[in-house]
Amino acid sequence: MGTKLSWILVILIFIPTGDCKRIVGKECNSQDLMGLTSFKAAIHVDTSGRLETWIGRNCCKWNGVYCNNRTGRVAEIRLPGFISTNDFIAQTQMEGWLSPSITLLNSLEVLDLGGLISLTGTIPSSIGFHLPRLRKLYLYTNNLTGPVPESIGNLSRLEEIHLHENLLSGSIPASIGLLQNLQRFLLYSNKLSGPIPESLTNLTNLVSLDFQGNSLTGHLPEKIGALQVLEELDLSDNLLSGKLPLSITNLTAISVLYLDTNLLEGEIQFPSSSGEMPLLGFLRLHDNHLTGSIPFNIGNLVSLQRVSLANNRLEGSIPSTLGNLLEATEIYLYGNRLSGQIPSSIGRLSQLMLLSISNNLIEGPLPSEMSSLHNLQTLDLSFNRLNLSSIPKWFGGMPSLCRIFLAGAGIQGDFPEFLRTTLSPLLELDFSFNHLTGIIPEWLGSLTRLYSLNLSRNSLVSKIPNTVTSLRDLAVVDVHSNKLSGPIDGIFEIGSRFSEGSLTYIDLSDNSFSGETEQIGTGQQCQIKFLNLSHNYLTGRLPGSIGRLVSMRSLDLSNNKLGFELPESLANVSSLEKLKLQRNRFTGQIPNGFLKLTALRELDLSDNLLVGRIPEGRPLSDFPKSSFSGNRGLCGKPLSPCKF
Ligand SMILES: *[C@@H]1O[C@H](CO)[C@@H](O)[C@H](O)[C@H]1NC(C)=O
Ligand SMILES: *[C@@H]1O[C@H](CO)[C@@H](O)[C@H](O)[C@H]1NC(C)=O
Ligand SMILES: *[C@@H]1O[C@H](CO)[C@@H](O)[C@H](O)[C@H]1NC(C)=O
Ligand SMILES: *[C@@H]1O[C@H](CO)[C@@H](O)[C@H](O)[C@H]1NC(C)=O
Ligand SMILES: *[C@@H]1O[C@H](CO)[C@@H](O)[C@H](O)[C@H]1NC(C)=O
Ligand SMILES: *[C@@H]1O[C@H](CO)[C@@H](O)[C@H](O)[C@H]1NC(C)=O
Ligand SMILES: *[C@@H]1O[C@H](CO)[C@@H](O)[C@H](O)[C@H]1NC(C)=O
Ligand SMILES: *[C@@H]1O[C@H](CO)[C@@H](O)[C@H](O)[C@H]1NC(C)=O
Ligand SMILES: *[C@@H]1O[C@H](CO)[C@@H](O)[C@H](O)[C@H]1NC(C)=O
Repeated sequence: MGTKLSWILVILIFIPTGDCKRIVGKECNSQDLMGLTSFKAAIHVDTSGRLETWIGRNCCKWNGVYCNNRTGRVAEIRLPGFISTNDFIAQTQMEGWLSPSITLLNSLEVLDLGGLISLTGTIPSSIGFHLPRLRKLYLYTNNLTGPVPESIGNLSRLEEIHLHENLLSGSIPASIGLLQNLQRFLLYSNKLSGPIPESLTNLTNLVSLDFQGNSLTGHLPEKIGALQVLEELDLSDNLLSGKLPLSITNLTAISVLYLDTNLLEGEIQFPSSSGEMPLLGFLRLHDNHLTGSIPFNIGNLVSLQRVSLANNRLEGSIPSTLGNLLEATEIYLYGNRLSGQIPSSIGRLSQLMLLSISNNLIEGPLPSEMSSLHNLQTLDLSFNRLNLSSIPKWFGGMPSLCRIFLAGAGIQGDFPEFLRTTLSPLLELDFSFNHLTGIIPEWLGSLTRLYSLNLSRNSLVSKIPNTVTSLRDLAVVDVHSNKLSGPIDGIFEIGSRFSEGSLTYIDLSDNSFSGETEQIGTGQQCQIKFLNLSHNYLTGRLPGSIGRLVSMRSLDLSNNKLGFELPESLANVSSLEKLKLQRNRFTGQIPNGFLKLTALRELDLSDNLLVGRIPEGRPLSDFPKSSFSGNRGLCGKPLSPCKF
């Protein structure tokens, strides 16, 4: 639910009608014919070719039109953009607007114009007065604007309303409370505002309700618990405020409950017995302003698989009843003020794959029972008050653990040895902000699946081992603020033995690296987006090959001892947004080509030995004087005019 469909594949197709008799057939109802003809007239592109079959007067034989074989009236229009048959699958489009004449088809029971992508216009405001038999209204994934009409409340037979992924605005009409037969009500990804009408709680047949991704305000309906057959409720990503209604625990059929990314406050309500909400599997309350502690009652949600209470203002300790959630696979509690220790009962969660408690006030030591979390893949305990000193030995025996985040955990001593012998393929490691000392070991090169390595803000010494060149999947390396030294060449050779380098992010800043930068851009490093080598002792010339890093957005080489001219080829890195070369010894003129760096938002060339006129024009003229200051030979806008 709530995932924005992305329509990428648009295939031109033609659907044969397979009906040779349509030309001689009898006429259909004249009002239906007029409505359909007007609808067709307002569409100027139909990539499916279905409207091409709409000729003659027997509309009951037209593609996508279905008549009631007793009354002869059009009962269904089914022209969805996504077409799937035994033979093929295609995403088609219609360009044009939704003719209000569609309301002439007053025997219509199903109107399906969903997923036509470019259909514009509004939902006819009188729809409720003219289509009394309508059961299914599908106008989703189009470009419709305007409100959900008030008259919709008159369509008492409506069972399904799918209006998601449009540009609908205004508030949800209170008249929806009259739609006693409504089972599915989807309005997600629109621009609706105003409150959720209290009358919604009248819809006692509702099974699925999704208003995600609008700008709805006000409180949740107090009597929401009256929706006794509701299975899926998604109101996330709105501006809803106030407390969770007490009645929420009365949603006995609920299995998916998403209220995240709102402004909800007060304490969390969980059922007082496991008989209530017995089927709740997916609960998201993250990114709200919820306070108080995590209720002991959480243990009553025995079906819970994925739960997120992250980014709230929850405090107190993690209740030991969390260990009752035997179905749990993912638990997100990060970004709260939770304190105390992790309860040992957590070891019972044998299905658990992800546990994130980062950015809380949790204290050590970690319960050894955690070692029995055999399915745990991702563990994020960064930035708590763990003060671990060392990583417990049992980490090495966890067979699935492949993403470990232990930043700011008070880890001391050598690079964690258990990583050498661990049973699982390590993908991501974050030991930043600790007190690691000694060298980065040679055997790091044997962690061949490693994708991301963050060792920043430790006290690691010596050089980066040559073995890193064998880490062919490595994409992110952040070792900033250590005491590393030696040459940096090895980093730029990572993956170069293979056809395609994967590195996108390199931060070696604030160390004692020295030597030249001549390897930059010589390997297969074209994906690098972020490169920070600042605050080191790098010398020599910037190689012209740096211009091959065409994906780069941020380049910081400041505070080194780099010299000679700025390479002209840098002008080819057109995606560059930040360029920081200050406090080096660059000489010569600023290349004229820098005027091609139209994406540049931040520039600092100060405190070098640059001379001559600053190339005239944007973006260079947009930066303040300070971007160029401290170069005694530079002149021209934004500095003072040249005297030659
Ligand atoms: C009438 O149409 C329905 C489907 O709408 C079909 O099941 C039924 O067989 C048809 N009856 C006749 C007599 O064609
Ligand atoms: C939808 O409308 C907006 C403007 O209202 C327009 O920018 C956009 O291109 C349209 N999208 C499609 C798929 O027609
Ligand atoms: C629509 O519903 C309203 C409210 O129930 C009622 O007053 C009105 O008569 C209805 N209009 C039509 C045309 O059915
Ligand atoms: C709730 O539904 C009943 C019909 O079952 C209707 O009479 C009443 O007006 C509705 N209330 C609201 C607030 O829509
Ligand atoms: C929950 O449902 C029970 C039984 O249907 C009812 O007695 C109680 O008042 C409801 N609680 C709330 C808060 O609506
Ligand atoms: C962290 O642990 C070390 C010893 O393991 C201890 O000396 C230090 O006082 C502890 N720091 C805090 C803030 O508890
Ligand atoms: C590495 O960790 C530091 C400190 O925890 C953080 O600021 C930085 O963003 C991390 N680097 C990456 C690439 O995520
Ligand atoms: C590069 O690293 C230095 C030192 O770690 C830091 O101050 C600077 O903000 C970083 N530059 C960019 C562009 O992130
Ligand atoms: C910039 O790229 C173009 C096209 O790839 C290439 O021909 C040109 O030599 C490059 N310019 C510099 C200065 O490297």
